[in-house]
Amino acid sequence: MHPPHTIRTALIGLGNVNRNFLRILEMKHATLARRYGLAFVVVCVADSSGVAVAANGFDPAATRQFKEAGGRVCDLPGSVAGASPAAVLATLACDLVLEASPVNLTTGEPGLSVARAALQRGIAVVLANKGPLVLAYRELHEIAAASGAGLAFSATVCGALPVINIGRRDLIAAEVRSLRGIFNATTNFILTEMATGRSYADALAEAQRRGIAESDPTLDVAGWDAANKLVIVANSVLGVEATLADVAVTGITSVTAAHLAHAAAQGATIKLLATAARGADPAGGGYTLAVAPTVTRADSFLGQCHGWEMGVEIESDLYGRMYHKIWEREPLPTAAAMLRDAVNLLR
Ligand SMILES: NC(=O)c1ccc[n+]([C@@H]2O[C@H](COP(=O)([O-])OP(=O)(O)OC[C@H]3O[C@@H](n4cnc5c(N)ncnc54)[C@H](OP(=O)(O)O)[C@@H]3O)[C@@H](O)[C@H]2O)c1
Repeated sequence: MHPPHTIRTALIGLGNVNRNFLRILEMKHATLARRYGLAFVVVCVADSSGVAVAANGFDPAATRQFKEAGGRVCDLPGSVAGASPAAVLATLACDLVLEASPVNLTTGEPGLSVARAALQRGIAVVLANKGPLVLAYRELHEIAAASGAGLAFSATVCGALPVINIGRRDLIAAEVRSLRGIFNATTNFILTEMATGRSYADALAEAQRRGIAESDPTLDVAGWDAANKLVIVANSVLGVEATLADVAVTGITSVTAAHLAHAAAQGATIKLLATAARGADPAGGGYTLAVAPTVTRADSFLGQCHGWEMGVEIESDLYGRMYHKIWEREPLPTAAAMLRDAVNLLR
């Protein structure tokens, strides 16, 4: 048997997602070597305090425990004083970057510069962070095509639910007529809990404690996280060059317990739906794109996506009406989606 192929890996961000990626390396090291012939060696880590490099690799368990105990990357051996992650990646010997820093819809940073720097050098990039794709979907794909670098992002939409993979791989030659989804677990959980009498603030606090809410939870409750995902789906699955400006966005902050009770009395519920409908709107590339709290029949597929579930319903001319859903209450499945992307790019 051949020794496993070493994948020199950089983890940008060491929060809920990439710490769970480290946990997966601890759990699945032998499986990855045996089944896929791959050994991921973490040669670079970055958090908000700085970047550190170890040519022979950081120990996954020790690094995860260091961060969980409140440690900062700038205090690790191999810390590179004053350097940004993108500057380090411009010269680092590296095969793969896993980008899981916070979403920034204004600049895309630090993720956008990280993705550009790596892709330009032919280094494979796997994103959990939606910001770089929402701001520069086409540019990043052009850089990747020019250098031959792999670029994957199945973790950006609904965590481990493979919406992007299904849309790109399993709908060959289809025309999607309509796509409707519950794309944000935090708001779905809040609405489900509010319907049972729990307060909005209490439910949001639980989503934050579990590491599911965005670093800035306004992105969740104001609808922007779902809109980001819809933009990524529009570009990657529907084939339209949509931006956030093409999405009509309404969040859940004005939904009250009384609204939910009124809907329930009609055999319905309220869901934050992201929708792409084939229609007459040329500005949306042929689709009308929206995110909004929507009264939904309680016995429908999306009406039955509760709490920590997310789901998507896709109707196309060739493949009937597909329904997919996931239950995801912690960031481990999202970290696994990054692993799935990495293995699919590199094996
Ligand atoms: N959590 C989920 O379930 C989930 C699901 C799908 C997608 N995502 C996406 O994955 C990304 C990460 O989510 P998360 O839950 O892991 O977030 P998180 O727990 O807030 O972690 C973010 C990490 O990024 C680091 N960071 C902040 N600014 C940085 C900078 N300028 N340079 C380098 N690192 C920086 C933080 O540093 P410190 O440790 O120093 O604070 C932290 O380690 C986000 O873009 C999110 O949208 C998350």
